[in-house]
Amino acid sequence: MATPQAAASPYPVGDPFALLVDTEATAWDETGGGNALKVLWASEETGAWTALIKSAAGQVNAPHVHLGPANFLVLSGAIEYRGGFAPTGSFIYEPIGAVHGATTTPTETIYLSNVFGPLAFLDPDGSVAHVSNGEHMLRRFVELHGKR
Ligand SMILES: [Fe+2]
Repeated sequence: MATPQAAASPYPVGDPFALLVDTEATAWDETGGGNALKVLWASEETGAWTALIKSAAGQVNAPHVHLGPANFLVLSGAIEYRGGFAPTGSFIYEPIGAVHGATTTPTETIYLSNVFGPLAFLDPDGSVAHVSNGEHMLRRFVELHGKR
């Protein structure tokens, strides 16, 4: 009788793009603006990124426009945003062009974010203050995990 073989890994040994992150062992990276991050992945090629975000109770994120789609899974707490009230367990999808005027977390909230394009942050008059293209997430990722 043949000996059962282990399933082949989908990644070649030593694949530099394969990644396994122990989120429990990863420290929160305080941004100083009411949010803390655990950047789990960031693409040098496209600027896309995945992160756990912990927002303090009462946090209000700056108004912004999504220049790429994004989705979010609320792991604890709740998010109030243009789409409504999203308690723990909610999945949010935001298309390109979604405008978030005031996104708040009424209690401390942790959510998984998958952001597939830049974010344009807005001034009070609606003009673009600056565009975040994911470079800061890549920088934080390299600082956290020591690889690109
Ligand atoms: Fe948003």
